[in-house]
Amino acid sequence: MDSRFEILPRHVGVIMDGNGRWAKKRGLPRGEGHKAGARVFREITKYARRIGIEYITYYAFSTENWNRPKEEIDGIMELFREYLFESEERLDENEQEGMQVRFIGEKAGLPEDIVALMARAEQETSTASDIVVNLAINYGGQAEIAHSARELAAAVARGELKPEEITPDQIAQHLYTAGQPPLDLVIRPSGEYRLSNFMIWQAAYAEFWYSDVLWPDFTPADFDRAMFDFAKRNRRFGGV
Ligand code: IPE
Ligand code: IPE
Ligand code: MG
Repeated sequence: MDSRFEILPRHVGVIMDGNGRWAKKRGLPRGEGHKAGARVFREITKYARRIGIEYITYYAFSTENWNRPKEEIDGIMELFREYLFESEERLDENEQEGMQVRFIGEKAGLPEDIVALMARAEQETSTASDIVVNLAINYGGQAEIAHSARELAAAVARGELKPEEITPDQIAQHLYTAGQPPLDLVIRPSGEYRLSNFMIWQAAYAEFWYSDVLWPDFTPADFDRAMFDFAKRNRRFGGV
């Protein structure tokens, strides 16, 4: 492990944005941007593990991204499939790389074969402990909070929980990220300055880092810049 960083975020969120614009700039179909973005995802994940990040969450497909043309959605689903097949082939390597893969988001609505491959990848990497890699697919922060609320309401209906026992901590324990630390840093490339429904609960006290670089052009050097800037931030969590 690389010890250049004295202060590192424990949990980094990455909104992988700008694939479409990257392709357009080159006169290529949008799908080519998603392919290039998927390669960068692999590279940055390896790098994050190498420098000692414990948790990293990538926004790969939002609950709102279903509004895109079918052809683009099919292309993105095909990239998920490729990634999942490839991870399966390289299981030993994943184990060696210490990557625990987890999927956050609604499974309902995704192609069944992808859901099965996801379950398998989660199961087979469940003991890897260097880095937890969450992939947010069919994910929306509001849908996630609603999901938590439904589970708590069901517990109340069964008489296992009283309404007054519902605390922020209880809600957090029923999110997809239950048991994981909240986000310390959110990285959004492509010059957009919004969360787009990403981890709205977990980002409550996260630092934000923006860049004009489009995701397919994002490099480990850009990641380093985010790490150095993060180390300089003064986090107060409402205190003085
Ligand atoms: C992010 O890149 C990838 C997904 C949302 C799946 P975009 O496809 O949003 O790229 P731009 O924002 O159109 O450039
Ligand atoms: C956010 O990017 C979703 C992902 C990166 C998966 P979008 O491109 O969908 O966000 P908006 O529409 O610009 O807010
Ligand atoms: Mg976008």
